[in-house]
Amino acid sequence: MKKLAVVAIGGNAVNRPGEKPTAENMLKNLSETAKYIVNMIDEYDVAITHGNGPQVGNLLVQQEIAKDKIPPFPIDVNDAQTQGSLGYMIAQSIRNQLKAIGKDMEISAVVTQIIVDKNDPAFQNPTKPVGPFYTEEEAKMLEKEKGWKIVEDAGRGWRRVVPSPKPLDIVEKDVIKLLMKNDVMVIAAGGGGIPVIVEDNKLKGVEAVIDKDRASALLAKEVDADILIILTGVEKVYLNFGKEDQKALDKITTTEAKKFLQEGHFPKGSMGPKIEAAIDFVESTGKECLITDMSVLDKALRGETGTRIIKG
Ligand SMILES: Nc1ncnc2c1ncn2[C@@H]1O[C@H](COP(=O)(O)OP(=O)(O)OP(=O)(O)O)[C@@H](O)[C@H]1O
Ligand SMILES: [Mg+2]
Repeated sequence: MKKLAVVAIGGNAVNRPGEKPTAENMLKNLSETAKYIVNMIDEYDVAITHGNGPQVGNLLVQQEIAKDKIPPFPIDVNDAQTQGSLGYMIAQSIRNQLKAIGKDMEISAVVTQIIVDKNDPAFQNPTKPVGPFYTEEEAKMLEKEKGWKIVEDAGRGWRRVVPSPKPLDIVEKDVIKLLMKNDVMVIAAGGGGIPVIVEDNKLKGVEAVIDKDRASALLAKEVDADILIILTGVEKVYLNFGKEDQKALDKITTTEAKKFLQEGHFPKGSMGPKIEAAIDFVESTGKECLITDMSVLDKALRGETGTRIIKG
């Protein structure tokens, strides 16, 4: 019996810093990513999740420039667009890699909606910056016209912020489980999933974004994963990250993780959501979470590197 892993791939698996986000570059990076993931398949059934921040951002810029000719889509539809484009690129990269090593396996990307609560406090306090920068004048106009919340972004201009509500349930979870049971590698909950609310017994997309690490923890819980693997830009999680006395963590309990989180070791926009996702998954399942860099995934799965979060 293989173990079941949910593997979240970070932005650096798709785009490298400073590199132009062309389809060619993305495919080049993803073909590298595919090698590391395909290495797992003898031991693990795999579901892959991914971010979409830069890709949705670029779509929003394109829509802004073309808005007089083509009506812009709302963000939930943009999310679906990037699940399609990234899902295609990831699936193709993995298929090609499987072929290259003489293996055969089905792989499929699932357009994934995730239910959020329309009364989630996040809707009263949008915090996640998305899309193009505006001048103050444009910002004021858009606030009036569209009811957006637009804030000054660290001296770089004005930028729309959207809510980041908590993911509660995956609409397509049974389809995802069915595929996995039938040995299909699944790509799901891309970009944190498409946020939808339930209103009058109907699903309805909302203008928000779900954090991909939180969505990955939810997926891992819903498919009964044995391990949640978060691949990111660092081999290990650190205390005092980036400081002279930084200290790498090999294995920590959820109690320690909570304490370190409270002490401010894991910032909100980067390592924080990963640690929160780890705590969420590990506490409710008793299974473990591994955070590492994909280039050392093999070693990390053997227990030789990476940071493990265990219940305790
Ligand atoms: N305590 C810490 N230990 C390790 N890395 C940390 C810590 N605090 C912040 N970081 C940073 O957090 C980064 C990972 O979070 P980040 O959100 O940038 O990546 P990601 O979620 O994998 O990708 P993306 O958000 O671009 O999709 C690391 O690459 C590192 O630079
Ligand atoms: Mg991130």
